[in-house]
Amino acid sequence: MDGFRAAVAGEPDDLLGFGFAVRLTETARWLSRATLQPKAFAQLAAAPTLWLRELQVHPNHQGRGLGRSLHDRLVAGGAEEAVVLTVIPGNEPARSAYDRWGYELLGQTSHSYDSPMYDVLWLRRATWG
Ligand SMILES: CC(C)(COP(=O)(O)OP(=O)(O)OC[C@H]1O[C@@H](n2cnc3c(N)ncnc32)[C@H](O)[C@@H]1OP(=O)(O)O)[C@@H](O)C(=O)NCCC(=O)NCCS
Repeated sequence: MDGFRAAVAGEPDDLLGFGFAVRLTETARWLSRATLQPKAFAQLAAAPTLWLRELQVHPNHQGRGLGRSLHDRLVAGGAEEAVVLTVIPGNEPARSAYDRWGYELLGQTSHSYDSPMYDVLWLRRATWG
């Protein structure tokens, strides 16, 4: 998996949260299922893009900034010019947080034939610094 990176938040014997990301390639199945805005495929192909695959914080520890901190560590550095992720539209507080963190809506997709629809969100490097 090109560009793999992971971040964890924890205490000595307790995993509080984690996330991982890989370089987006055209083999990502959700990409072939996606209905995206006309410019979006070109935007995704234009430069290396990081696919943020997982971001999870233990329910007892949410709302303390761990999610944002894990996110920021995952997207920092690397050669990628953008980050893409998929999120179920009703998945709060994640969906609203991504809007506030600068993500733009590119379209929708699914992860398998019987999966729910996900929003495809995109963040440019210029937005995260
Ligand atoms: C999404 C998730 C990782 C965020 O983790 P977190 O540690 O709570 O994140 P933060 O504390 O950094 O908060 C993120 C934002 O959500 C807001 N938020 C967090 N908990 C909230 C709550 N219970 N109600 C309303 N807003 C909340 C915070 O205000 C923050 O907004 P801001 O960054 O604009 O200030 C966490 O909710 C989670 O693990 N959810 C389940 C898994 C999931 O859905 N992951 C995302 C898949 S795409």
